[in-house]
Amino acid sequence: MIGIIGAMASEVDGLKAKMSDCKTETISGIDFCSGIIGESEVVVAQAGVGKVNAAVTAQTMILHYGVDAVINIGVAGGIEPSLKIGDIVVADRVVEHDMDTTAVGDEPGFITGIDRVYMDCDKVISDLIFESANEAGVHTIRGTIASGDIFVAEDSVRNRISEQFNAYAAEMEGAAIGHVCTMNKVPFAVLRAMSDCANDDSHVDFPTFAEAAAKKSIEIISIFLGKGVK
Ligand code: ADE
Repeated sequence: MIGIIGAMASEVDGLKAKMSDCKTETISGIDFCSGIIGESEVVVAQAGVGKVNAAVTAQTMILHYGVDAVINIGVAGGIEPSLKIGDIVVADRVVEHDMDTTAVGDEPGFITGIDRVYMDCDKVISDLIFESANEAGVHTIRGTIASGDIFVAEDSVRNRISEQFNAYAAEMEGAAIGHVCTMNKVPFAVLRAMSDCANDDSHVDFPTFAEAAAKKSIEIISIFLGKGVK
C-alpha cells in the first residue's frame, strides 16, 4: 500500500475523487481514505499545513496502515531560477531549512538523532514520478526540496534557503515526511508543482495559481499510480 499526503484540500480532493472502494477512518482528527486508484492500493490524507501535521500523518500511515512507501504531493514555491509557475520539482532529497542548532556547532539543517542534514528520497519511486511528469508534458526538474514552518514570501528568505541548501523549491511538509520515513526506514518521495516563486510576489501568486498547480500534481501522481507500483 502507498500512502499519499497533501496539506490542503486542493492538493488531495481531486485524487480522492478517483478512488474506488474508499473507506475513511479519522485518526488524530485527520481523515485517512483508503482504496484503489489506478493499479495501486493507496491511503490518501489531507494532513494540514506544516511539519508537525505532516509528521503525525506520515507516522500514522506507517503504524496504522503499514504503508510500503509515502509520497508527498502538492504545491511549492520555486527557487531554482529556471522554474516558472506550473513547473514541477521531483525531490531527490529533502532538508528542514528551519532546523538550526548552529549555535552549538552543528551545520545548518542538521537533525540530531538521525544525524544528517539531507534525507534521500527513494530513487525507484522518484524515477517513476519523474517519468510520469514527463508523460504529462510538464517542465520537470529534480533536486533538493526544503521544508520549514514558514510560507516563504520574501526574496531574502528565498536567497538564504537557496544559498544554504541549494534548494530548488520551498514548501512546508516534505522534509517532515522524509524525517519520519527515514526514522522508520520507509521509502518516500516528494512531488511538487510550483504555485509561486517563493519571493516578494508570492502573496499574490499563491492565491492565484495554487489550485491549478495542485491539479497538476494530482494529474502526475495519477499517471504514476497507473503504472502499478504496489
Ligand atoms: N507552498 C507553496 N508556495 C510556498 C512558499 N512560497 N513557501 C512555503 N510553502 C509554499
